[in-house]
Amino acid sequence: MSANPRVAEHAIDEQFINRWSPRAFTAEPISEATLLSFLEAARWAPSAYNSQPWRFLYARRDTPNWERYLGLLNEFNRSWAQHASALVIVLSKTTFTAPGASEETPALWHTFDTGSAWGHLALQASISGWHTHGMAGFDQELTRKELKIPEGYALHAAVAIGKLGDKASLAEGLQAREVPSPRRSLSELAAEGDFSL
Ligand SMILES: Cc1cc2nc3c(=O)[nH]c(=O)nc-3n(C[C@H](O)[C@H](O)[C@H](O)COP(=O)(O)O)c2cc1C
Repeated sequence: MSANPRVAEHAIDEQFINRWSPRAFTAEPISEATLLSFLEAARWAPSAYNSQPWRFLYARRDTPNWERYLGLLNEFNRSWAQHASALVIVLSKTTFTAPGASEETPALWHTFDTGSAWGHLALQASISGWHTHGMAGFDQELTRKELKIPEGYALHAAVAIGKLGDKASLAEGLQAREVPSPRRSLSELAAEGDFSL
């Protein structure tokens, strides 16, 4: 990977600071087996009641679905994500059947659980030498219609997956941003005892 300016404040496995979200991709194809290995990692995320509310829809470049999926992104994201190898739409089921219940009720943690699953996906891709880039910038209404997503499923994000490309391929303004980003200090995010953040 490119020089990583990130420094962990506490000892952690390097996978956590090695994962980052570039926009320059090589536009090479990805095999379905490789993509499924990332989704497999997501499958093993924890969830409330083991309800596994996450769902993933995907398209690989050079396949008939590719252009349809690209068309769901906003113009900015499409400008760089068109060089990715795969696009994934992350959704979740908003209801579940609690243990012992006979009817579905709202799944209060479906968003929390699905965020965890996307984290697994991103880390597995990174460990495997690929990069992911989450995107809120896509048309949810169009996506629901185009991909025939029924009611009862919430849309969360699109994810571009690819191999790291040359940042010179990006527009000038984006080239400067093509570097692993920093983080707030842990002391701003975590406190012992009462809320003091
Ligand atoms: C849910 C979500 C939505 C995002 N939406 C966009 C987006 O629409 N366009 C974009 O360029 N980056 C987007 N990002 C990327 C974030 O800006 C990026 O993950 C963040 O700055 C942290 O950088 P890192 O992933 O390199 O550690 C999104 C990330 C997430 C997780």
